[in-house]
Amino acid sequence: APSDPDLVARARAAKEKLGDRVFVLGHHYQRDEVIEFADVTGDSFKLARDAAARPEAEYIVFCGVHFMAESADILTSAQQRVVLPDLAAGCSMADMATAEQVAECWDVLTEAGIAGTTVPVSYMNSSADIKAFTGRHGGTICTSSNAKRALEWAFGQGEKVLFLPDQHLGRNTAVRDMGMTLDDCVVYNPHKPNGGLTPQQLRDARMILWRGHCSVHGRFSLDSVREVRERIPGVNVLVHPECKHEVVGAADQVGSTEYIIKALEAAPAGSKWAIGTELNLVRRLANRFAAEDKEIVFLDRTVCFCSTMNRIDLPHLVWALESLADGTVVNRIEVDAETEKFAKLALERMLALP
Ligand code: 13P
Ligand code: SF4
Repeated sequence: APSDPDLVARARAAKEKLGDRVFVLGHHYQRDEVIEFADVTGDSFKLARDAAARPEAEYIVFCGVHFMAESADILTSAQQRVVLPDLAAGCSMADMATAEQVAECWDVLTEAGIAGTTVPVSYMNSSADIKAFTGRHGGTICTSSNAKRALEWAFGQGEKVLFLPDQHLGRNTAVRDMGMTLDDCVVYNPHKPNGGLTPQQLRDARMILWRGHCSVHGRFSLDSVREVRERIPGVNVLVHPECKHEVVGAADQVGSTEYIIKALEAAPAGSKWAIGTELNLVRRLANRFAAEDKEIVFLDRTVCFCSTMNRIDLPHLVWALESLADGTVVNRIEVDAETEKFAKLALERMLALP
């Protein structure tokens, strides 16, 4: 549905009043009505870098989810204020690894005698606490666009990797890009004593995968791929690496949101694509490329939007911008100094990856 013209006008006016004092970042999974007001759009890696590259902006309005706003706060200077237009915009995957659970896991690895040779690699989709744990234990952050480079780096530092919190990205990268087998990977379940693993299993593993997943990407199935291939002969199946291993195995291409966009930009006219990632992005790409005669469909019509990404809508954005324009900072995301110090270390290791 087209946006309410009154809200559009109010968002424009507030942004104009704020001028260069505000910088609005929009993740690719945001609604169209929000993306329209983003100064820059990107995947989580690009947005982290873009936030860090705007020291003159007093306010960073992050249209995305909580862990992204935290990362922006960590990477920007102390005077800059990061605002998340709706505090309920979390990420169910990030919530699957708490600081207590991860500390307990590290004790289990220590008991098994492998903590000294294990390097934590945490997906961007994690809380600042988990990033700080990662920094403290000599590890790095990664995103879906640099997971391979992060693992290459980590295996240069130690013998094993503890990958948090997305088991699928960890497994897909290990097996597809690092030449490992499924037998090299074990899954640590934080809800079971000792993660549900024996010390011997931990010692034998090369990749210790945290039992987390994305509630959106986890719903694409092998049947989704089979069905779309039957329905659209000649279709190219392109999925995000947060999808299950069997889905990624059945796809033609795998990549982050930025990768998906570039692949479609480079695709020839007349080509057909089924995309396995968040629906807001897929719809936007389908509309954008229809004019170039590229047919783009959503991989599985029963999968829906990321409900937390969708929490950020035009009314919330208008409220945040108007409040800032009136001098009130609402919904500020602020990471405490001690957490920030170590989380930043882990993020900077990622930014320094070759
Ligand atoms: P990217 O933006 O890194 O592709 O990650 C997708 C995602 O799920 C973010 O929540
Ligand atoms: Fe989290 Fe998945 Fe939503 Fe991304 S798409 S914010 S990983 S729940």
